[in-house]
Amino acid sequence: MSVVVKRPVRRRPTFHPLTVAGLDRLTEEAVAITFAVPPPLRELFAFRPGQHVTVRLGDDVRRSYSICSPPGDGRTLRIGVKEVPGGAFSGHAVRALKAGDTIDVLPPLGNFTTDFDPGRARSYGAVVAGSGITPVLSLVAHGLAVEPASTFTVVYGNRHARTVMFAEELADLKDRYPARLQVVHVLSREPGEAPLLSGRIDADRMRRLLDTLLPPVDEWFLCGPYGMVTDVRAVLAERGAQRVHQELFFADDAPPPAPARPTTAQAGAEATVLLDGRATTVTVAPGERVLDAALRVRPELPFACKGGVCSTCRAKVTEGSVSMARNYALEPDEVAAGYVLTCQSTADTDRLVVDFDA
Ligand code: FES
Repeated sequence: MSVVVKRPVRRRPTFHPLTVAGLDRLTEEAVAITFAVPPPLRELFAFRPGQHVTVRLGDDVRRSYSICSPPGDGRTLRIGVKEVPGGAFSGHAVRALKAGDTIDVLPPLGNFTTDFDPGRARSYGAVVAGSGITPVLSLVAHGLAVEPASTFTVVYGNRHARTVMFAEELADLKDRYPARLQVVHVLSREPGEAPLLSGRIDADRMRRLLDTLLPPVDEWFLCGPYGMVTDVRAVLAERGAQRVHQELFFADDAPPPAPARPTTAQAGAEATVLLDGRATTVTVAPGERVLDAALRVRPELPFACKGGVCSTCRAKVTEGSVSMARNYALEPDEVAAGYVLTCQSTADTDRLVVDFDA
């Protein structure tokens, strides 16, 4: 059942076809894709450093990739894609995509960013692994350009030197800002410059890096697999770090979702889904994710990872309550304001109103 609700409507993120303007091979298994953004879409595709976009291949394949370019004049947007085994989009991007092709792209999203301010002098630090460098490259390039008195230290973990993504771009930035950018490479499968720089970035190595090599840092950015990010975050908490941003690209190594809480919605919940000013009602079965139920009646609903990582499925619960199995995307203040990741939400109450326009 659908009814039209009269109230201001937020513009829902929808896919737009963007032309591939260029393709650069970064390593054997990674490419950077530059999209041309036509003038009518430049406002919509304006982004903050550290944000990501969702791409769609065919009807079913949706993947999120971080933007590696700094915000500029809005004419282009560049993402980094590393091939994963069996990856439906990454395999296509690395082996078949070519300039002139068109890809459906959602406008930028994400909270892995900060408000750079020319009057600020801050020591930024980043700990990243593999393709986790992608959003940090944008943050470093933009941050150092906007804040002339700030510095950036990047700890960058990879298996081998040959798998280092954006090596040239990092070298160019180092040439441009020799005194303000420090990049520390840590290699897990070949000897690094010193024993401390050989091996995986775990809690012990992070403690030793902090004790011996890294400067005091005011604001941290962590991006990589779940295990690395949680280890480093715990060490930074031990050391009293106040400002720590994190971004996961994939959550395969995350612990399984928590079991659902006891709920009053034993027979399923009646959920009203608000999208584009139209209300549609659907039954959410016990234990079913709100997004899956809602997609049955509103297939145009936005989503990408379905893993609690990308925030594309974010909505506000304005009546009733839900439990989220995982949340690697929303900030505490968003959760406090009632926002949820619908791909991770099960109903706790018999009745729900879930507003995708809020
Ligand atoms: S679809 Fe990515 S967090 Fe829900």
